[in-house]
Amino acid sequence: MIRKIFIIGCGRILKKHLDSITLLKKKIKLVGVSDTKSKRLNSVSKKLKVEGFSDYKKGIIKTNPNLVVILTPSGNHAKNIMDALNLKKNVIVEKPMCLRISDGKKIINLAKKNKKRVFVVMQNKFNLPVLKLRKDINKSKFGNIFHSSVIVRWRRDQKYYNNDSWRGTWKLDGGVISNQASHHLDLLRSIMGDPVSVFAKSSNHLAKIQCEDTALIIFKFNKNRTAIMEATTAMRPKNIEGSISVLGTKGSAKIGGFALNKFEYYNLNKNINLLKYQTNPKNVYGFGHIKFYTHVLESLISEKKSEFEAENAIKTVELINAIYKSIETNKEIYLKNKIASKRLGI
Ligand SMILES: NC(=O)c1ccc[n+]([C@@H]2O[C@H](COP(=O)([O-])OP(=O)(O)OC[C@H]3O[C@@H](n4cnc5c(N)ncnc54)[C@H](O)[C@@H]3O)[C@@H](O)[C@H]2O)c1
Repeated sequence: MIRKIFIIGCGRILKKHLDSITLLKKKIKLVGVSDTKSKRLNSVSKKLKVEGFSDYKKGIIKTNPNLVVILTPSGNHAKNIMDALNLKKNVIVEKPMCLRISDGKKIINLAKKNKKRVFVVMQNKFNLPVLKLRKDINKSKFGNIFHSSVIVRWRRDQKYYNNDSWRGTWKLDGGVISNQASHHLDLLRSIMGDPVSVFAKSSNHLAKIQCEDTALIIFKFNKNRTAIMEATTAMRPKNIEGSISVLGTKGSAKIGGFALNKFEYYNLNKNINLLKYQTNPKNVYGFGHIKFYTHVLESLISEKKSEFEAENAIKTVELINAIYKSIETNKEIYLKNKIASKRLGI
């Protein structure tokens, strides 16, 4: 069965999705696209030879897809997801799933009610070093992981923020924490589990935006385990690092490159060929989107639960909110209290 795909949002990340759909053409087919910018919509729909719709609900009703793919500004995701769920469609949505915890809960409830599924793109989890590290951690090869350290040093210049008015705003995006570092927060959770508490500070070094371009975060986990994150979009002149290192009782490892795309070290007793896991992506998006699509299709066929679904993704939304809450209040925030950040909206 070839599944039909409808895409909402034809901006920057569209190409990664189109490439995946093309490579998986025996399994999926694009049937329609939507964008509110008419020039953009017309050029994409003409190029791809599919019908374009300024109103995505009309497009979904007319083309009757199996999957709706949402690539709109992050603050729109919740409404777009709920509209698609109300039309009884499965959903793929770009990260982060949504900004508000309350919206995340509504999405989960609606998906359950309509027996549909929401998958959130976290393509870096399919990077070869990430798969290898998580596999070996699960096999306890590193012993107990007691500390982790994340660094995101990326370049997003003023032109990037100025090009699209939603970027760097509380209503539609947030700063480096909710946008760029949401990948790394999600990955940190999948390695360390959910933190017990966070304490964070933020700054705005170079970007003239409402939100932060730089954040420093201390995480505490159960059993006295810890993590630290430094994330910035103020790196110049180019993206330099998107990394995570883990320290365990039996070994340590660091995945680095600018997009979690190679091992910097893998300190276990046994030697491994680190180059086998290295890729050289052109940009920070990497090569994971196609593997993500393959995973979604397999999950739909097998009906197996996936870690990319809303029930898990909401925990990253909760973590992002707790970090902002800590910055707002200058306090350590305990996640069990599930406190929403006022800045992102309750
Ligand atoms: N996985 C990744 O690595 C990655 C990378 C980049 C972006 N993203 C995420 O993808 C999303 C989109 O980012 P982008 O950089 O492509 O943004 P963008 O601004 O380039 O594109 C968004 C598009 O959505 C359209 N849009 C807005 N509201 C709409 C509506 N109601 N109906 C139809 N179209 C609508 C806009 O006109 C625009 O063309 C964001 O949530 C972002 O966080 C993820």
